[in-house]
Amino acid sequence: MLQPANIDIEVLKLAVKDVNKRWPDVKPELCLVLGSGWGDVVNAFDIKDSIPYEEITGIGKSGVAGHSGKLSLANYKDKNIFIFQGRRHWYEGEGWTPVVAPSYIAKHCGAEVMLLTNAAGGINYAPGDLMIVSDHINYMFSNPLIGPNHEKLGTRFPDMSYTYNKDLRDKIMAAGAETNVKLNSGVYLASSGPSYETPAEIRAFKTLGGDAVGMSTVPEAILGNSMGLKVVAISCISNYAAGISKAPLTHEEVGETMSSIMPTMVKLMPEIVKNILN
Ligand code: HPA
Repeated sequence: MLQPANIDIEVLKLAVKDVNKRWPDVKPELCLVLGSGWGDVVNAFDIKDSIPYEEITGIGKSGVAGHSGKLSLANYKDKNIFIFQGRRHWYEGEGWTPVVAPSYIAKHCGAEVMLLTNAAGGINYAPGDLMIVSDHINYMFSNPLIGPNHEKLGTRFPDMSYTYNKDLRDKIMAAGAETNVKLNSGVYLASSGPSYETPAEIRAFKTLGGDAVGMSTVPEAILGNSMGLKVVAISCISNYAAGISKAPLTHEEVGETMSSIMPTMVKLMPEIVKNILN
């Protein structure tokens, strides 16, 4: 691999310093990562302050449309929440450090829970469906933990049997029932991107057990789990995965479907946060 892929722990330590400098003594109870098209969810919270990613060492600026690129400090019933609005991806080619920075910052600023969100192609689900991630398949052909093992990242061989916290998944499911929003459960398969998959790949992924496919979430979950964060993730199905419908895939379609579902998420998310923090 040509680019310096491995996590740079010194850069991540500086990232935590940058956040602590701006918000001294702030300990988030929960860290929310908003993926493609999930940005409007911030409207459900009382935002106290935001730091552009450019001002946090190691994250830098995302070039992906639909990703806003800032870390906000929100208040929910007197509890602090970090909201990462937008994420960096492996396919941007800048290595793992910017991709996993939210997990590291969350953990080392004191959060216990990380809720990841994403837009995903539906293999066994349809556009507009919401899927709580029950487990994942890492099909990115890499792993953010490759490289020297550092105690701050967890052990050398972290167990992945319980990556997506069951208790929190139940709480999210309950929030769906309370707000009348149907929530499904399924396996998220991460491909590296940036090209969408071929129909043959999607047929293979279906056989492998993937219910939805995307280009994110798994790296943050791997590091989060390794560091001992309680991790949960929700996928919003933004399109049929390649070959399932005849329509070609576009990032615009992903954005349009996401916009149409966001009012539902804006309604659901505070209930999810309430249940998680209780
Ligand atoms: N494939 C991969 N990533 C995605 C998709 C998809 O179909 N939709 C949204 N993100």
